[in-house]
Amino acid sequence: MTATAQEPSRAAAGTTVLSLRGINKRFGAVRALTDVDFEVRLGEVVALVGDNGAGKSTLVKVIAGVGPADDGEILWEGRPVTIPTPHTAQDLGLATVFQDLALCDNLDVVGNLFLGQETLRAGLMDEVEMERRSLELLRQLAAKIPSVRTRVAGLSGGQRQVVAISRSLLGRPKVVMLDEPTAALGVAQTAEVLNLVERLREQGLGIVLISHNLADVFAVADRIVVLRLGRNGGEYRVGEVDQEDVVAAITGAKDNVVAERAARRAHVTPPAGAAADQEMGTEGAR
Ligand SMILES: Nc1ncnc2c1ncn2[C@@H]1O[C@H](COP(=O)(O)OP(=O)(O)OP(=O)(O)O)[C@@H](O)[C@H]1O
Ligand SMILES: [Mg+2]
Repeated sequence: MTATAQEPSRAAAGTTVLSLRGINKRFGAVRALTDVDFEVRLGEVVALVGDNGAGKSTLVKVIAGVGPADDGEILWEGRPVTIPTPHTAQDLGLATVFQDLALCDNLDVVGNLFLGQETLRAGLMDEVEMERRSLELLRQLAAKIPSVRTRVAGLSGGQRQVVAISRSLLGRPKVVMLDEPTAALGVAQTAEVLNLVERLREQGLGIVLISHNLADVFAVADRIVVLRLGRNGGEYRVGEVDQEDVVAAITGAKDNVVAERAARRAHVTPPAGAAADQEMGTEGAR
């Protein structure tokens, strides 16, 4: 068995691995999530989209055991579970890459991959084994990292994202949640991260992709789940929906100014390098 995620289980592709029903979460008077349902299937990329404050990160935190729900039901592989801590999530097979990545700039790639989960040999860190597993993992992901002994400070934003995603795979998860993995990236780096997402899907994982960029979502997702004001705001299969309909679901109105503007722009081919402008009308709100 290699250092990467679960062996592909083609027969299992499409199986619902995680299912949330009627999730509620309040912060004082703020109802961050109200009666939310959400499903993740193996071998599928599900995009979780919504405007700022829609509840996306809150939902991910519920699943990641960082901020458990007030009530609602969570089924993992068909069994009811509670996810009170990040440890529980990890043990179940749920990995999360939060937006800030939490990498250590002064450590090299191997050091970051194994930070807190070092391989020991006779009580000492087994550098040779960790380097071997790092190389194997990055090779399997076809990641373009110059050397596993490069300090992370010297890597591009896209390469850093790849390192963070790779680290999340060491625990052999079945589901990986990525919170805005392309938010700070240029066009080429975004493409690299989206390629990586596709490779994870090929390996049979379920991937939750949070993104403000609908171009990315339409490029890689199979299914789109919209959150609006903390509630389910629509669910679509990519290929059966237009970008403008998703924008309308996000904003809650087909005829409002933002939706119209986004719909107009969706029909114009952007100039090279303008991908970042394709944000869903929130105009750099991140
Ligand atoms: N720790 C917290 N304390 C109080 N309110 C919170 C907390 N975390 C989130 N909220 C509130 O819950 C709501 C949902 O926030 P959340 O961060 O989940 O939105 P989001 O969809 O991730 O938005 P963004 O796109 O801006 O990241 C917002 O109204 C937010 O202000
Ligand atoms: Mg968020």
